Amino acid sequence: MQPTFWHERWTLGQTAFHEGAPNRFLLRYLDRLGPPGALFVPLCGKSFDLDALAQHGHDVTGCELVSLAVEEYFRERNITPATHHTPTGPVYESGSLRIACGDVFAFESERAPFDAAFDRAALVALPPELRARYVAKLASLLRPGAPVLLVTMEHDLGSGPPFSVPEDAVRAACAEAFAIELLADEDVAQSNARFIERGATFVRERAYLLTRK
Ligand SMILES: C[S@@+](CC[C@H](N)C(=O)[O-])C[C@H]1O[C@@H](n2cnc3c(N)ncnc32)[C@H](O)[C@@H]1O
Repeated sequence: MQPTFWHERWTLGQTAFHEGAPNRFLLRYLDRLGPPGALFVPLCGKSFDLDALAQHGHDVTGCELVSLAVEEYFRERNITPATHHTPTGPVYESGSLRIACGDVFAFESERAPFDAAFDRAALVALPPELRARYVAKLASLLRPGAPVLLVTMEHDLGSGPPFSVPEDAVRAACAEAFAIELLADEDVAQSNARFIERGATFVRERAYLLTRK
């Protein structure tokens, strides 16, 4: 996707991907992310996952392309973040949580290598041709042994985002850098009516625990 695609989504408020609460797989498998540590949330949007992770004791660093999303995150919580500028863009920070505003492929952090990461709607937001590059970037930011909770979607719409990422695609993209454990595989067609209305005949979500080799 071009950056303009995401800027437009946020400007027009077309953010159906935004869940109004922490992701259910995150709540279910929070403990699999290990003890409180430095945790990375790529393509974080303004998700409530950031809050849940910080409340659990993690030192949370998100990365988000669109500044409007970052501003909304803090505004909706009545927080005025401290801002500092880095070569790859501004970083907004409050307490044990910060969001770096910029392209994940250029993201760098003094906190890396991170102890853990959470990916919900990040891998699936990227077109297939960026998948290997994204996984390599994620792997480069993690210490050996670091767990990643990865939430993916599979459907037969033939377009995205969210792009359909079946289990074999996860294994193809991740097996070199990560050990892969499938934690959950659920039919979510009923709670994703917008996919069915657009012609999908199935929608599944899966949660994986990746462990950095
Ligand atoms: C599908 S949304 C998911 C957001 C969040 N993870 C959630 O669960 O609500 C994908 C997000 O990634 C952001 N994004 C897209 N490409 C990006 C990139 N190259 N670097 C950083 N963020 C990006 C978009 O602006 C959007 O907010």
